[in-house]
Amino acid sequence: MTTPNQERLLEVASLAKAFGGNRVLQDVNFSIGAGEIVGLLGPNGSGKSTLLNTITGFEAIDNGAVRYRGQEIGRLGAHRIVERGIARTFQLPSMPSMMSVMEVAMAAATTRHGLWETLCNGAGVRGAEAAARDKATRLLHELLLTHVRDLPASALSGGQKKLLGIVCALMGDPQMVMLDEPTAGVHPNLRNDIVQALKRLNRQGMTLVIVEHDMHFIREVCTRCIVLDRGHIVASCHPDELSSNERVLQAYLGGGAHQQAMAGEAAQ
Ligand SMILES: Nc1ncnc2c1ncn2[C@@H]1O[C@H](COP(=O)(O)OP(=O)(O)O)[C@@H](O)[C@H]1O
Ligand SMILES: [Mg+2]
Repeated sequence: MTTPNQERLLEVASLAKAFGGNRVLQDVNFSIGAGEIVGLLGPNGSGKSTLLNTITGFEAIDNGAVRYRGQEIGRLGAHRIVERGIARTFQLPSMPSMMSVMEVAMAAATTRHGLWETLCNGAGVRGAEAAARDKATRLLHELLLTHVRDLPASALSGGQKKLLGIVCALMGDPQMVMLDEPTAGVHPNLRNDIVQALKRLNRQGMTLVIVEHDMHFIREVCTRCIVLDRGHIVASCHPDELSSNERVLQAYLGGGAHQQAMAGEAAQ
């Protein structure tokens, strides 16, 4: 499950996570190379979000190791992991009603750099605020949110909240972003904007890991896929190889109607 030709950015080894008696992730091993766009697939409940949560420090891991640039990060808290350069978005982003879109984006700038670093770098609070405003302005433009920048963040559509989630992730200048279903429930026009934005970020050198169900998206965007089934990784392959991979088909056909529909799409 490795990428031998690229610098290994992220390595996950023997990762395990349970909630009570529910063993959600078991002996998960894979690595992500610098510059890859990897799709993370699997039926509902297979552990995709939990895998993102454990890697990004939102859930504690029970066993195993997570290394980023060769350093162990598996027991660091979420804010420390952001500082190392891994950002994330959420499957169902919730946004505050008392902050504007611009304010939410600017607040995300301090998540990585922190107030102390801001004060120590000579720019002072005012300079840092100006820099955050400039960056937020640029990213809101790139993610097509300029026209809603002064609205309460909670007033955005589901798709726009996903775009704002990407803006927030990018405010800390990460090297890797992990996205949880960035296009689920998103209007087709916005979906295409998200696809283009992710491709552009990757061309600029960003490494991306994307949880996604949409096979068209996977084929269009991803260079490799990792497939989870009931907490185990069952495949790591090119998107074109998914439809002929027995273990992938079994993962989807083993489930209910939704999974069968997915398998049908995978086979197209
Ligand atoms: N915080 C939690 N507490 C208890 N169980 C959880 C928690 N988060 C996820 N789970 C369980 O872990 C399993 C995998 O969930 P999840 O990672 O969300 O799957 P996926 O993202 O692949 O749909 C499910 O059985 C879910 O109920
Ligand atoms: Mg999920």
